[in-house]
Amino acid sequence: MEVAFNFISFVFFLSFFILLHTQWRKKAKTRRNLPPGPPELPIIGNLHELMSDSQQPTHRVLGELVKKYGSQGMMKLQIGEILAVVVSSPAVAKELLRTHDLTFTTKTQSLASKTLFYNGLGVSFSPYGDYWRQLRKIFAMELLNAKIVRSFSSIRRDEIHCLLAYLHSSSGQMVNITERIFLLMSSIICKSAFGEVFNGREEFLEQVKEISELLGKLDLAGVFPSWKVLHGLCSNKNRIMKTHRKVDAIIENIIKEKLESGNKGRSGDSLIDVLVTQMDSSGLQLPITHDTIKAVIADMFAGGSETSTATTVWAMSEMMKNPRVMEKAQTEVREVFKGKETLDEKDIIEQLPYLKQVVKETLRCHPPFPVFSPRECREESIVNGYTIPLETKVIINAWAIGRDSKYWEDPESFIPERFEESSIDFTGNHFQYLPFGAGRRICPGLAFGFANSISPLGHLLFHFDWKLPNGVTVDSFDMTEKPGLSVGRKTDLCLIATPHIA
Ligand code: HEM
Ligand SMILES: *[C@@H]1O[C@H](CO)[C@@H](O)[C@H](O)[C@H]1NC(C)=O
Repeated sequence: MEVAFNFISFVFFLSFFILLHTQWRKKAKTRRNLPPGPPELPIIGNLHELMSDSQQPTHRVLGELVKKYGSQGMMKLQIGEILAVVVSSPAVAKELLRTHDLTFTTKTQSLASKTLFYNGLGVSFSPYGDYWRQLRKIFAMELLNAKIVRSFSSIRRDEIHCLLAYLHSSSGQMVNITERIFLLMSSIICKSAFGEVFNGREEFLEQVKEISELLGKLDLAGVFPSWKVLHGLCSNKNRIMKTHRKVDAIIENIIKEKLESGNKGRSGDSLIDVLVTQMDSSGLQLPITHDTIKAVIADMFAGGSETSTATTVWAMSEMMKNPRVMEKAQTEVREVFKGKETLDEKDIIEQLPYLKQVVKETLRCHPPFPVFSPRECREESIVNGYTIPLETKVIINAWAIGRDSKYWEDPESFIPERFEESSIDFTGNHFQYLPFGAGRRICPGLAFGFANSISPLGHLLFHFDWKLPNGVTVDSFDMTEKPGLSVGRKTDLCLIATPHIA
């Protein structure tokens, strides 16, 4: 009996060890083929590297780490329980976003993104599949195609005129440009989304800022999924729920108003009108509900307002820092529109090649989403010779990609002319330049965002001369970035505008 028992336990332990050993070898084998990374601490892995300096924006921290520990622009990072791969190389980005696009189209969800985007009902956080494809189609065809973007141009024109009037009235005084441009962009997006100005707008815009802040926070619960204790302690759950309830109530009211007034579906209508009309459309495989509409509106604000603001404000900042560029761009717009009192937006977009180069260079040096939201690997793959295990989070650093010295000469300098003779554009076909992303998840608001940025710039340069505030010189003018989901200036851009008399 005793012998039999010992034998059984012996067999049991033997098979246990064999199993353990093969598991270990399997893990070690895939581990061995992972990209290199910084040394890890027990439990937290490399988390401390990400949290060491909260003043440094993530794209710079990750960029430095990849330079130091990565190989060919790829690096492994163990963030708590999460295995991540960080990418700074155009060639690897191409493999991920083109060759293996299907494997890497699903974004990682956090508590904030789940709650604020209605469990993936919007475009930006819905997992890859039929539902997402249908929404993208509506976005592309009904909402943000070139024709609609042009029809929004009258909204843009009115709002830009308000801004110009304000600048005229503050002639010679210091103006908070960051604040004014954010107001401009949010008014444009509000009117494009909801139609005429609605009650509760200020409150809504406050919440938009809050959404972006919440999305930009490191999600500790997501980093340690099995540590349930931590979730209660560290997550911003209450803040997230509060914001969610406020935004939900505001948009629900607007939808109700639209349904009651019955004037939906007119031509040239706002986003919400188009969606409310689609709600009844029987041609859709997957029905559109109130929550779908709310999630899509959240997409549009989260994706559109701060990005367009950042682009415009950074372009003005770079021109102040580089007076040569300012002068050249100003000369161009004043020659093309000589003798005109108002500028036609179509002409701004089509007839100012240098200003376009300025915007493109701004998007290279300051991509508003410098680091894309992490994608979740859907199936173990080999990328650039390294293994990427299932469920690895892949983080693409578009900012570092735009500064790769193999592709860009003198990458740290602001030189719009580099785009003059070059065919490189931002439509996702040139992987050294990804301000709007690439592949299936490329920004659907690309044309809208570009028009929102270049059109105000054309007007600002045509109508005004610009000076730094007293005591600030070109050399002392601060260009520091503020960490966050979309990266803007740390200090608000304040300038003095003087009307230009032709
Ligand atoms: C200069 C302005 C803009 C820039 C630089 C920009 C940049 C980007 C980038 C880089 C992505 C991809 C992120 C990723 O792969 O994780 C993205 C996605 C997205 N953008 Fe934009 N964007 C801009 C304006 C807009 C505007 C005006 C809208 C809407 C009105 C918008 C709506 C979206 C949406 C809904 C997505 C998610 C698409 C998806 O996941 O399928 N964006 N944007
Ligand atoms: C610019 O405006 C914003 C928003 O109103 C405000 O919070 C900020 O303090 C202002 N900045 C400066 C430098 O006046």
